Amino acid sequence: MANGFETILYEKKEHVACVTLNRPQALNAYSVQMRDDLYEVLRAIKDDDEVRVAIVKGAGDKAFCAGADLKEFLTAPSAIEARQIRFRRDLWKLFLSVPQPLIAAIHGYVLGSGMEIAACCDIRIASEDAVFGLPEVGLGIIPGAGGTQTIPRLIGVSRSLEMLLTNRWIPADEAYQFGLVNQVVSKGKHVKTAEEMALKIASFNPDAVKRAKEAITRGIDMSLQDGLELEKRLTLGRRQPRIV
Ligand code: COA
Repeated sequence: MANGFETILYEKKEHVACVTLNRPQALNAYSVQMRDDLYEVLRAIKDDDEVRVAIVKGAGDKAFCAGADLKEFLTAPSAIEARQIRFRRDLWKLFLSVPQPLIAAIHGYVLGSGMEIAACCDIRIASEDAVFGLPEVGLGIIPGAGGTQTIPRLIGVSRSLEMLLTNRWIPADEAYQFGLVNQVVSKGKHVKTAEEMALKIASFNPDAVKRAKEAITRGIDMSLQDGLELEKRLTLGRRQPRIV
């Protein structure tokens, strides 16, 4: 068990870590402090052999995360400067380098960087009240949390472009049809479903789990030949963790 973060809660039980975005009064909007807190906790998870799988969820009834903290972001002297401050720590690269599986348990508003955080996870379980959207272009910016790369890999180029360029928000059932979420469950059951899934994954050999994740998540960006070589190396037990 580790805690002491301003914007997140961190718990660990039976090899399952749970990271809760914890600013419910601001719909868990992603702030610079949240970036720093997530950075610390993901580093800790990555180095912790006791953690076999992690769940990311949002506190409160209304949102997983309503995107970048607009009060903080849009009041900065310039949007570019605000982005540069955020890029001082590459949280998204760190997210994508975590060797253990990450499950996003999603409900309510899943907007902008909220959708991007979910896309950095490996499996997404959505409550039926989840609503997904990418409001960035409508605000005169573009996604900067990996979303222009991670989301098309999940739902394809044209659906991503439609969501981003028109700012159309989609409900959970459409997100399921798009392949954005793995499962839609009844309202409020998303965390329980994610926990059951996490316990199942945690019951398997943790090294095999990490190698399976690495083969798929790294292989998808390779040619088939290179991907097959990666699979061969991993089959022989040679993991090459990405350094961040
Ligand atoms: N950044 C900072 N604060 C946010 C926020 C954000 N992205 N989204 C919501 N909040 C705050 C609101 O300011 C409000 O705070 P207040 O009570 O101190 O005024 C609180 O969270 C509740 O939000 P509210 O707007 O009252 O809830 P709602 O149910 O009427 O509307 C949304 C919900 C998600 C439709 C609306 O909050 C919204 O459009 N948020 C911005 C979404 C967005 O554009 N995100 C940026 C993506 S790049």
